[in-house]
Amino acid sequence: MEAVGKSVCVTGAGGFIASWLVKLLLCRGQYKVRGTVRDPGASKNAHLKVLEGAGERLQLVKADLLDYSSVASAIAGCEGVFHVASPVPSGRSSNPEVEVIGPAVTGTTNVLKACYEAKVGRVVVVSSCAAVYANPNYPKGKVFDEDCWSDEAYCRKNEDWYFVSKTLAEREAFAYAAKTGLDVVTICPSLVFGPLMQPTVNSSSKIILKYFTGDRETVENILRNMVDVRDVADALLLAYEKPEASGRYICSSHAIKVADMINILKTLYPSYPYPKNFVEDDDNSVYSSEKLQKLGWSFKPIEESLRDTVESYKAFGILN
Ligand SMILES: NC(=O)c1ccc[n+]([C@@H]2O[C@H](COP(=O)([O-])OP(=O)(O)OC[C@H]3O[C@@H](n4cnc5c(N)ncnc54)[C@H](OP(=O)(O)O)[C@@H]3O)[C@@H](O)[C@H]2O)c1
Repeated sequence: MEAVGKSVCVTGAGGFIASWLVKLLLCRGQYKVRGTVRDPGASKNAHLKVLEGAGERLQLVKADLLDYSSVASAIAGCEGVFHVASPVPSGRSSNPEVEVIGPAVTGTTNVLKACYEAKVGRVVVVSSCAAVYANPNYPKGKVFDEDCWSDEAYCRKNEDWYFVSKTLAEREAFAYAAKTGLDVVTICPSLVFGPLMQPTVNSSSKIILKYFTGDRETVENILRNMVDVRDVADALLLAYEKPEASGRYICSSHAIKVADMINILKTLYPSYPYPKNFVEDDDNSVYSSEKLQKLGWSFKPIEESLRDTVESYKAFGILN
């Protein structure tokens, strides 16, 4: 590897969000990127190897979040770490402690411990709005900001294991930072959509794809808080590069009713069999990204994001 710039590590480099972050870091020119993947030879990670700058500045290393020594050797020598990897299940898990909560929480602890040992300057942890809004005590109608935390007991009662995993992992991250002085910043994206880089369809993209398949004539007209994956990558880099960044940041750009989103899609791509009927829903929760915007973050118009999303699904042969 050529000796240029800062070395940074991205965990779970082949995933939906991490792939865009790796691309952004390589585009910047000044970063050497070490991406952790569980299987460096797998075809699902091949898209990373052909990125511009990858030959000179991207190294893919094998690491499992639950294997501390693999995590520690991936992070050793890095000045910055983006901890993106975490299980994002599509359906109900039969063994949530082992499949979802364990890797998220122990994985985060392992990453942070390795960062502390390696004297990493800053760790940016990808949390989620799942760690923000699932709280029955939050006043109805009040905009969600960074002060709101999901309630673990409530999430457990509802068997929202992913929510439990993200809430505990983020809490653990800040507890570790308080104990050791490690500089930890978290980003909490809402539903992430946008063009795919990886050949497999990740869980949040599956939610969007369902609107195109024609198998659901009737859907709930919920207010979706959404953010383009490329804007999430920008937020992660901003949180790393801005010295004044601290604490957690909600990262959400559009609050849009499903029916309104379908109307935009119909205008852009009229021929797909979109849902026809909408059942009204009174949960109109909105998340504020004001803190992130004050740090300098901006986002794409939703029309552009939806168009690029559909074009990418077409390019991958997922849609006609
Ligand atoms: N997409 C969203 O709407 C959304 C919203 C808010 C927050 N987030 C957060 O964003 C992050 C990335 O999510 P994504 O949407 O990009 O999902 P994704 O494409 O499924 O990526 C998840 C990544 O985590 C890795 N991973 C899971 N368990 C692991 C383990 N035990 N050891 C090592 N790596 C492991 C996966 O690696 P393999 O490829 O080896 O399985 C994969 O690369 C997650 O922390 C998620 O909670 C996502």
